[in-house]
Amino acid sequence: MCFEQISENLQAIVYDPKDAPEELWSAWFAVSESVFREFNPKSRLPDRNAAKRRLSVASPLYRTERTLVFDNTETPVAVMSFSYETQLSPSYELDRNICHMNILVEKAFRRKRIATQLLRELLKKARKIQKTTIAGEIDNTPARKFCEAYAGEVVHKEVQHRMYMDGANWEAAAEWRENGRNKFPDTTFEFFQDCPAADIQAFCRTYTEIINERPTGDMQQTIITTPASRRIEEENLKKKGVKWYTLISREKNGDISAMTDIMYHRREPHKIIQYFTGVSARHRRKGLAKRLKAEMLYLMREKFPEVEYITTTMAPDNRPMQAINAKLGFKLRKTDYVYQWTLTDLERQVEMHLQTVKKRRKRDCQTGFPG
Ligand SMILES: CC(C)(COP(=O)(O)OP(=O)(O)OC[C@H]1O[C@@H](n2cnc3c(N)ncnc32)[C@H](O)[C@@H]1OP(=O)(O)O)[C@@H](O)C(=O)NCCC(=O)NCCS
Repeated sequence: MCFEQISENLQAIVYDPKDAPEELWSAWFAVSESVFREFNPKSRLPDRNAAKRRLSVASPLYRTERTLVFDNTETPVAVMSFSYETQLSPSYELDRNICHMNILVEKAFRRKRIATQLLRELLKKARKIQKTTIAGEIDNTPARKFCEAYAGEVVHKEVQHRMYMDGANWEAAAEWRENGRNKFPDTTFEFFQDCPAADIQAFCRTYTEIINERPTGDMQQTIITTPASRRIEEENLKKKGVKWYTLISREKNGDISAMTDIMYHRREPHKIIQYFTGVSARHRRKGLAKRLKAEMLYLMREKFPEVEYITTTMAPDNRPMQAINAKLGFKLRKTDYVYQWTLTDLERQVEMHLQTVKKRRKRDCQTGFPG
């Protein structure tokens, strides 16, 4: 294993989860589970085997570099990931300048500038591969303070909602399904894992159209799904052990009018993530989103009877989706903030901070104040 000394007290190792030895996994779980527990004290920890598999399968559409950080006593203190799209991603040309960071520092080791030093390493890598924008998704107060200390700009907010199956409003679901069936009897529903070959062109076109109509604030992100990228994602999620189901509605003329998808892992059978729900502009104001959510809810209950809750996220200004979810029984769980910087601004901020700290230390030593 090849460790790199990144400061007097810290050493880091860039590792590939696919062939990481058990001691690196133990270190990764020590940090990631401790941070998870801190911010989700009532939740079950993610299943270790599922997490290992999720991390070990790399998508050809993205590259993720993972780093583990230890202090002088070989205690794991932080983990970092740095990711960006590969040329295989259909949105590469539009988003080629952007990369994403995720840094977790174990609570007992915070406010010692560990994240700052890691960020400095990450920025060097970003510059080397010509990235010019850095983004990070944040869901807790200390991390927001960290981003604000470096003058990050909030470019987007997402709210995460959760609905417990036993708190679902089944009357509303039944009503939405019945109304839809009565008013639009020619609209049919199809449920699949692998998108049928005959539909994949039309499906990807409609998916790309609708998903890019959702509110995303000032965030730089274009989601393009092509038949090739859909197949890559299908394969990839299977390798990760994730079951990915899509439900579409189809009109009499054959048009795909709406879609929603869910993800399920058999090692974490208590939860489902509902990823995206969208109705094509031509078919809005007909109760289709409600009917789709209701049809999916019945399918989930039938297919995954052990599921306890469903999680979904959306922009806080997505009023139609918020209203539907609230009526169905979803409750606000947390808010995610997307922070963004230009590379040069963040480099300057980090260097300035580290210089100030150095000067402060020097002055405190000279005056005899403790550091
Ligand atoms: C965000 C996080 C990584 C910061 O780690 P850290 O090592 O404590 O950060 P640093 O010591 O380098 O902080 C740098 C500056 O940010 C600001 N800052 C960081 N945490 C702060 C807090 N809780 N309150 C106020 N300011 C804070 C300070 O200005 C600090 O500099 P200073 O201590 O010299 O005043 C850490 O809080 C964490 O792991 N949070 C949970 C995981 C997470 O959400 N990560 C974000 C994903 S990118």
